[in-house]
Amino acid sequence: MPSALAVLENYYGSGSKCCWTLSCCFPSTVSKTVQLRPVFSLRLAAVTSYPFLAIHYEISSCRQPPCGLPILAMATPFLNAKLRAQPQKIWITAMSKEMNIVVVSGAGSGIGQATAVHFAKNNFCVIGCDLSQSGLEETAQKVGSGSFHARVVDVSQEDEVRGLFEFARSFDVALHAVIPCAGVARTGLVHDLAREDWEFMLGVNLTGTWLMSKYSMPIFMEQKTGAFVAVGSDASVRGASGYAAYCASKHGVLGLVRCLALDYGPWGVRSNAVCPGFVQTRMMDSLFAEASDPEAEMKSYAKEVPLGRFAQPAEVAKVIYHLASEEAGYTNGIVYSLDGGATAGHFG
Ligand SMILES: NC(=O)c1ccc[n+]([C@@H]2O[C@H](COP(=O)([O-])OP(=O)(O)OC[C@H]3O[C@@H](n4cnc5c(N)ncnc54)[C@H](O)[C@@H]3O)[C@@H](O)[C@H]2O)c1
Repeated sequence: MPSALAVLENYYGSGSKCCWTLSCCFPSTVSKTVQLRPVFSLRLAAVTSYPFLAIHYEISSCRQPPCGLPILAMATPFLNAKLRAQPQKIWITAMSKEMNIVVVSGAGSGIGQATAVHFAKNNFCVIGCDLSQSGLEETAQKVGSGSFHARVVDVSQEDEVRGLFEFARSFDVALHAVIPCAGVARTGLVHDLAREDWEFMLGVNLTGTWLMSKYSMPIFMEQKTGAFVAVGSDASVRGASGYAAYCASKHGVLGLVRCLALDYGPWGVRSNAVCPGFVQTRMMDSLFAEASDPEAEMKSYAKEVPLGRFAQPAEVAKVIYHLASEEAGYTNGIVYSLDGGATAGHFG
């Protein structure tokens, strides 16, 4: 394993970057700002609540990175102390001011994970949040040398989502897109459904998406640009037997997105929704696992899809990427069905 400082020095030595992130595996909480005026300011911000500690080096008041020595001299005692603590996983993420940020929730699994990986591989700086620490670690592994910052966040909790966007702002670079992918699904007829199950699904799927919009729209408005791509479902546009709470939450997501499109379009902010049918993820597996014969149940659902198969998470990620891009610059308020034709009409 190379010394983190050596790697940092290499990046620094390249002379072309003006911002780095050093991500290490530390269970500690650190936050520090060091001002080195008048030449430059160095900010060390440690991100907590997750064993990946992200330390951002940002030189904010000069165009070209100055000599690396002062920064390393300042950083060395700080880093050394931390690196000795638990030097298990260390990777450096170079980040330039030209790199835009994408915030993805539910980034620890399935569609959110595939989306985070796709954006990171396309040179975006991805801030991925999830409830699952191990899921985020898996995503970080898949991203490899790309720029990925993991945050454990419960999207149904307002203070946690607010903190997520404060973190995004702290990079001081443009927020390109926000993708609320976190979601949960439980089945049950309404008369059997416990109130807590109803509130749980509405809380994550609908309130979570609303909170992601509540804290991203002000940033987008300031920038006068930005893309919000919500993840609905075929259950956003039709009912599904036994899925009342899930359908209600996903119909709500569409209503929210349409209003976002109207209310924030004048600021140049685009809001759209992708509505996948079944996608091969852990969510899908756990839903089919409830059936007495999961294999037979899966086959019968697949028969209702004109394309004869379920989607892969990466196929959804590519559509989300497209909707967030300039190529889709005139889309606003659309419902992008991604269900192999399942909602096109009666089939068979
Ligand atoms: N898989 C499908 O068939 C399918 C179809 C249509 C729509 N969707 C939607 O796609 C989205 C992603 O689902 P998926 O299939 O990738 O599921 P998944 O279970 O693989 O991933 C969902 C992720 O959301 C995270 N999450 C759950 N609650 C959270 C919370 N409160 N805060 C933060 N993170 C939380 C989970 O930990 C998990 O990592 C969901 O909104 C889902 O409703 C899925």
